[in-house]
Amino acid sequence: KSVENGSFTWSSPSNIALVKYWGKKEHQIPENPSISFTLDNCKTTTTLSFVKKKNEDKEYSFDVYLDGEKKDDFKPKIETFFKRIEGYLPFLKEYYFKIETSNTFPHSSGIASSASGMSALALCLLSVESELSSEIDDVFFIQKASFLARLGSGSACRSLVGDLVVWGKHEAIDGSSDLLGVKYPYEVHQNFKNYQDTILLVDKGEKQVSSTIGHNLMNGHPFAQERFKQAHKNLSSLINVFKEGDLDTFIEIVESEALTLHAMMMTSIPYFILMKPNTLEIINKIWSFREKTGSKVCFTLDAGANVHVLYPENESEQVCEFINNELVAYCQNGHYISDRIGFGAKLL
Ligand code: PMV
Repeated sequence: KSVENGSFTWSSPSNIALVKYWGKKEHQIPENPSISFTLDNCKTTTTLSFVKKKNEDKEYSFDVYLDGEKKDDFKPKIETFFKRIEGYLPFLKEYYFKIETSNTFPHSSGIASSASGMSALALCLLSVESELSSEIDDVFFIQKASFLARLGSGSACRSLVGDLVVWGKHEAIDGSSDLLGVKYPYEVHQNFKNYQDTILLVDKGEKQVSSTIGHNLMNGHPFAQERFKQAHKNLSSLINVFKEGDLDTFIEIVESEALTLHAMMMTSIPYFILMKPNTLEIINKIWSFREKTGSKVCFTLDAGANVHVLYPENESEQVCEFINNELVAYCQNGHYISDRIGFGAKLL
């Protein structure tokens, strides 16, 4: 079909890994399987407008805007993405694209926008594809979008659906794949419904280590093979945890995963410490609060200093009070984001 122009808008959430993806092979294939909670409030909305080019040059033509401001520094990453997906979306050089994007969280908050941003863009591009060629059915659409999003940023393939998503082949999880994220297929206990995530913004600076460099640090890392095995084992254990609603084992696995991610960075060459003093203050406060009250609150970390505070919905009141009284003081300018498990991307 020949289409002169059009536009699509998708919103896509961020996600937070419980078992972390850290280390990849060629073509964005993860070294180990990972699982994440899809978030709800932290999301990117992207409008992709497209116009058919008059003369078919051999270049990609596009501009990127963030909150209405032109962002040429985003272009190389998108150019790389286009190159990787061109074989799957052959129309890329035939159109000029205007990519207008905005995030619900501040750009320089230290919250990675690559997962929500790349998944929103992949969805928009696939909407163009389905307008040009024949209709694609819903299930295949989401699978292909996840496949494409992975080629933009690995963890982006876990941002399309909710509420728990697995990416990477795991022997005990039916349908799991290295190529795309799939909704966790087994029973999840009521304890995990509407799980809460308050993101404490400890350091809003630019990331010290890009995730590309970070993943590469796992090549030849002395502990890499053991780490990849451990991720498989932790994901196996989580199957029963989710089924039984075993919050104590959940806490143990999730916190250990966060610390292991950072341990991998501390023990690579070159080495990095991405936690800040306030990250450690918060972790210690969470541990003593748990000891004192029996609460099931726990933390996880991304590749940075910010802390995700995870807790069951029925503890919201007491944990929010704890956060306000004891943890907000460690956040930069007192900033934090209240979020919870969400259900995936939406066509607007
Ligand atoms: O998707 P990337 O390449 O930015 O890697 C993300 C890696 C972590 O966020 C640290 C862990 C994860 O599984 O999301």
